[in-house]
Amino acid sequence: MSSIVDKPEDYFRKLIPPRDDLMIKLEAEAEKENIPIVGPVVGELLYILAAATKAKRILELGTATGYSAIYLARACEAADGIVVTLENDSEMAARAQQNFRQAGVSDRIEVHVASALEVLPQLQESFDFIFLDIEKQDYVKVLPDCRRLLVKGGLLVADNVGFKDADEFNRTISQHSGWRSISLFSFLPLHSPENDALCLALRC
Ligand SMILES: C[S@@+](CC[C@H](N)C(=O)[O-])C[C@H]1O[C@@H](n2cnc3c(N)ncnc32)[C@H](O)[C@@H]1O
Repeated sequence: MSSIVDKPEDYFRKLIPPRDDLMIKLEAEAEKENIPIVGPVVGELLYILAAATKAKRILELGTATGYSAIYLARACEAADGIVVTLENDSEMAARAQQNFRQAGVSDRIEVHVASALEVLPQLQESFDFIFLDIEKQDYVKVLPDCRRLLVKGGLLVADNVGFKDADEFNRTISQHSGWRSISLFSFLPLHSPENDALCLALRC
């Protein structure tokens, strides 16, 4: 049987997907200012998952500067979809708006300056895909609304579930009959942090 590559982290670091100048600029800003964006590997994963599922209505919790939302907006372009993204920091939301204009996706993204915890219970329209990227201890609090808002067969992706603060979320979703879920612990170059887990969950 073939063995695993030598120095797998160095090896996979060389396979980071290419990005345009705007995304590289957002990565540099995030590193300088300590903004925990998903980075190009999880960004590309979000693109692939949203495009493969032909998601038309995407909800993101936690916009920051808009890096992951740009991947999602580009992924749903073929389906003529939209991304609704919630951010509770108004300065971040303003930066994201500016970045959406530069990326040419502002007509596809609605940014709401609001706490996901307050706004989610009021949302009524359903979504095909939800990306969860707020404070990790809040994941479990928004989970019932995520299930209510996702269509049957819709996909929930939760970032950073390797954090201790996501423990209650991890235990809840893995035992809930309303979800089929897996947690993938991975090496994720340029993610913050690079060793972390992601949860992928199908709404039953
Ligand atoms: C990890 S960052 C998001 C990174 C972004 N998804 C990306 O990869 O480009 C988390 C963001 O969620 C925001 N946030 C935290 N708790 C929130 C809440 N309850 N509602 C809305 N936004 C929240 C923070 O201000 C921060 O900008």
